Amino acid sequence: MKHTPHELLAAARAVAENAYAPYSHFRVGAVAVGDDGRLYPGVNVENAAYPSGVCAEASAISAAATAGVRKIDAVAVACIDAAREDQNYPCGQCRQRLNEFRVETVIVAGPGGEPRIHPFGELLPFGFRLDE
Ligand code: THU
Repeated sequence: MKHTPHELLAAARAVAENAYAPYSHFRVGAVAVGDDGRLYPGVNVENAAYPSGVCAEASAISAAATAGVRKIDAVAVACIDAAREDQNYPCGQCRQRLNEFRVETVIVAGPGGEPRIHPFGELLPFGFRLDE
């Protein structure tokens, strides 16, 4: 990997400062690593109509797709307001979104804030896809 897990998690933490989360006060940043080697950041963007809000991972995926990326190698996610370790993990819907772009590696903050690296299949076994 061109960027280390430490660097990717640090980048996700940095961009989380830009999260728009006036309702939950739960700020999340994500950085998608496209197969072009570029980084695509995203944040959660909430809305007064709550279901209209989007997750940080969805923002990052949209940024990558907008740039023409169709394969995301890795994603780092940082929830800078997380009170517990399990809150650092992508939600179920984002796991499915990540599956669409064949993400292989998910990096989150583990004990002590150190990067914890998961093969994607640990987060979403038997993920649903329409192609081969
Ligand atoms: N959130 C994310 O951005 N990513 C996740 O995987 C989990 C949840 C956001 C959505 C909402 O803005 C806030 O965190 C609280 O759920």
